[in-house]
Amino acid sequence: MAEISWELFDRQVQECRMCPLYAGAKNKVPGQGDRQSPLMLIGEGPGQVEDEQGLAFVGPAGQLLTKMLGAVGLPRDRVYICNIVKCRPPQNRVPEPTEADACKLHLRIQTALIRPKVILLLGSTAAKNTLDPEFRITRQRGQWFERKGVWMMATYHPSALLRDASKKKEAWADMQTLRDKLKELGLYEDLPGYGQE
Ligand code: URA
Repeated sequence: MAEISWELFDRQVQECRMCPLYAGAKNKVPGQGDRQSPLMLIGEGPGQVEDEQGLAFVGPAGQLLTKMLGAVGLPRDRVYICNIVKCRPPQNRVPEPTEADACKLHLRIQTALIRPKVILLLGSTAAKNTLDPEFRITRQRGQWFERKGVWMMATYHPSALLRDASKKKEAWADMQTLRDKLKELGLYEDLPGYGQE
């Protein structure tokens, strides 16, 4: 296998035709942020604004995500953010398992390049495709799972919080759990810009 690099990753995503979603995408949305960050965030798939700009989480859900991170002193530009699928599903539907599976090659390469210590999974699609196909977000959010030395936790997707504000309290608790884990691992105070709540 060719040695992995960001150049190869970017090219593979831009040229990808491994599932039908590429045909409807205005732009591929590979992900962006701090490539040195110990913290990686994984969402579901690009929405309309993301599709137009080629950037992850820049629409209304992204604005709420920025606030959630800021509330626990995590500047958004110090984390790395991406999605399970890199092309927008039509009408923002949930990606089909075949689409998510096809895109996992990209996510695996991306994760190998970032080498995160902690991964925050945003919503059920991210958790199901990363931790367990039977994952139940309402029951299992806020719990830590260790996979190959990487700590993973799921919380509600910010779009779910926009639809149902009553979930915000639990999401807030999850963000504090995230901050506590970063502190426990010595990854919080160490990073300039972190901890400015
Ligand atoms: N929802 C997601 O899951 N990802 C984005 O990038 C935007 C909205």
